[in-house]
Amino acid sequence: MFETLTEQPADALLALIGLFRDDPRQGKLDLGVGVYRDDTGATPIMKAVKAAEGVLLETRTTKSYLGPEGDLVFVDLLKPIVFGADPGERVVGVQTPGGTGALRLGAELLAAARPGARVLVGTPTWPNHAPIIRATGLELALHPFFDVATQRLDFAALTVAVGAAGPGDVVLLHGCCHNPAGADLDDAEWDELAELLAARGVTPFVDLAYQGLGRGLEADARGTRRLVERLPEVLIAYSCDKNFGLYRERVGALYALAADAAAAETVKSNMAALARVNWSMPPDHGAAIVRTVLEDGELTALWRAELLEMGDRVRAVRAAIAAAEPRLAVLARQQGMFSTLPLTPEQIRRLRTDHAVYMAGSGRINLAGLRVGDVPAFVEALAAVGFPG
Ligand SMILES: Cc1ncc(COP(=O)(O)O)c(C=O)c1O
Repeated sequence: MFETLTEQPADALLALIGLFRDDPRQGKLDLGVGVYRDDTGATPIMKAVKAAEGVLLETRTTKSYLGPEGDLVFVDLLKPIVFGADPGERVVGVQTPGGTGALRLGAELLAAARPGARVLVGTPTWPNHAPIIRATGLELALHPFFDVATQRLDFAALTVAVGAAGPGDVVLLHGCCHNPAGADLDDAEWDELAELLAARGVTPFVDLAYQGLGRGLEADARGTRRLVERLPEVLIAYSCDKNFGLYRERVGALYALAADAAAAETVKSNMAALARVNWSMPPDHGAAIVRTVLEDGELTALWRAELLEMGDRVRAVRAAIAAAEPRLAVLARQQGMFSTLPLTPEQIRRLRTDHAVYMAGSGRINLAGLRVGDVPAFVEALAAVGFPG
């Protein structure tokens, strides 16, 4: 049976983690891994999450099955955070195993509605987007989104791609904190895009994985909300794994805005049926934590404050880099944990071997891997390999 299989490449970032761990040098810097780090280099459990786990330990009386939709109280409690005002009966959702599960379920929903539909994706993007889209039999159509050399978001290329698309086509959009570019649309661009999508009949599929880690909880949802206001149908893949620090618990949700309440119920029944054949039911613990936080005013306030602090930390690192090297000032205008620097493979290699600075081979850096105090050393290491040129 298995002799037809070919070896698949290991995750390059995981290999980097091993190299970093085994590097004995003092002051080594890890900008590779894609998780939030605090000032001590740890990825801590948030205090609100710990408190919620304590509550669950005391109050949980069963581990019985929940159903393919997961915990619908969790799904509802998250709605005001994602949509602002009550989005009404046109919005339905189910709980998913992380944002990845939401993307996969969303892609399968699209494939069920329109087999082989075209999904426009701007490059560069999160490396899992294209395989997920292809795995569900959808057609991937790439267009440029961000030019790494000039650090410019190519809004014109996005509008050309959407302008040439039509009903039955989908465009995948990063809701905020673009991974790996850090480049987000501004409000005027979201407005213009919403109008164009409406005019062309193209359906947006929003990947909202980092709400609160860019400009703030409200501002990071503005683009998504604009699309929901303006369009008849929107699909949103949401992750709580980053903004609640619940990575390994796998917490997310897939939401859909449909033309009316009846259509929304049909969509939801399809989401549940698709979930059933994928994972049957999502894991509960992480969603139960989020639910416990959001059901309690004090825990919600604590979570919001902690999230704000995380965002502030990343913004402070970005500002420090911009101040230390004015030619990297663009980093202070980008959002979220990631940026991608136009480094050559040789520069990336020398940063690792000569300066103990670790980053992805693409030049993507996780700003949360730095403390403000590390910035001078980081900028010096860049200069030593001739960057910026
Ligand atoms: C852009 C983007 N979307 C989705 C995800 C998936 O997140 P999760 O860990 O919740 O599956 C990630 C994770 O890195 C991401 O960067």
